[in-house]
Amino acid sequence: MFYINQMACSNIMNKNSSIYIAGHGGLIGSALLRKLSTEGFENILVRARSELDLLNYHCVMDFFCKNKPEYVVLAAGKVGGIESNQNYPADFIVENIQIQLNILSAARENNVRKLIFFGSSCMYPRDCKQPMSENDLLTGKPEGTSLPYAIAKLAGIHTCLAYNKQDGNQRFVPVIPNSVYGPNDNFDARAGHVLSALISKFHKAKLEEHPKVVLWGTGSARREFVHADDVADACMHLLFNDISSLELPVNLGSGYDVSIKDLALRIAKLSGFNGDIHWDLAKPDGSPQKLLNSARINAIGWFPKVSLDDGLLSTYEWYVREIGRSLTENEGEST
Ligand SMILES: NC(=O)c1ccc[n+]([C@@H]2O[C@H](COP(=O)([O-])OP(=O)(O)OC[C@H]3O[C@@H](n4cnc5c(N)ncnc54)[C@H](OP(=O)(O)O)[C@@H]3O)[C@@H](O)[C@H]2O)c1
Repeated sequence: MFYINQMACSNIMNKNSSIYIAGHGGLIGSALLRKLSTEGFENILVRARSELDLLNYHCVMDFFCKNKPEYVVLAAGKVGGIESNQNYPADFIVENIQIQLNILSAARENNVRKLIFFGSSCMYPRDCKQPMSENDLLTGKPEGTSLPYAIAKLAGIHTCLAYNKQDGNQRFVPVIPNSVYGPNDNFDARAGHVLSALISKFHKAKLEEHPKVVLWGTGSARREFVHADDVADACMHLLFNDISSLELPVNLGSGYDVSIKDLALRIAKLSGFNGDIHWDLAKPDGSPQKLLNSARINAIGWFPKVSLDDGLLSTYEWYVREIGRSLTENEGEST
């Protein structure tokens, strides 16, 4: 175990470094873009999907050859909750494998200094002992509802580790965040992750004065949430410190979990919804608990800064400001 201080960080950090954020419009990518901009980075590379389709190997390679980014954060991919994973399993495995292979191989070919790749807590065995440590990966079968996504992510982690081993460096840094939330999340009640889906469901129910909200499962499953601003902060820590002796991959969590029922009650309260919550027991819960052991990243001096209550409040306020107001005009039936 070792600790890296701010001196070590500032030795490597250069505000002129070119940093490519793949997926800069998404939840994690937009948080990193905000943070880099706030901290005065001047050479941030971003491309919309319409300008650069990451599924196209030739376009990706051409972009890397022309722009030669020094640092890359791969925050692009096919992401979604239980329902979209069940409806589009082939898209989840194929698109994620294609995007990560295109970017990792182009990064290696063009001598990128460091790249962050995001795995997922879905990769851990369904019945993994808690909290889950990096060494628990591949000790059992992941939860079935997101298996194709989990396999794509495991392939990505192992592509990073294999390149590092073959090349004798730590260029590729695989990071495993638990459930991320914040501004620019997907708030679609059907396609989004649980936290963002709950925000949109309760907000809509409150606006339209529905007497009840129906939620999937029993509410007993426990989840750990990490704010996108903390993920961005951790990315900077990993990119701009010497992490050559850090064992990879590295978990990234807040350190504590809550039941879905507890989460639902907190969000219902935030939204001002006073009706009933009905739990649809015919729908799956997913894994009973998903809590990461984040000791590796804590040991290099990184800790989360955003509490769940503060993060929920700011995310809810962002949602109401940016999306929630137009709901009654655009949508029909609620939960
Ligand atoms: N969210 C979480 O809870 C979580 C947890 C662990 C790991 N991760 C991983 O972290 C990464 C980022 O997640 P996120 O939640 O920030 O995702 P997100 O909000 O869905 O954003 C994904 C981004 O990828 C872009 N993208 C997807 N396919 C593309 C393509 N073919 N060409 C160009 N751009 C493409 C999207 O562009 P469009 O806007 O055009 O669609 C979007 O900007 C993913 O690899 C995810 O698996 C996420």
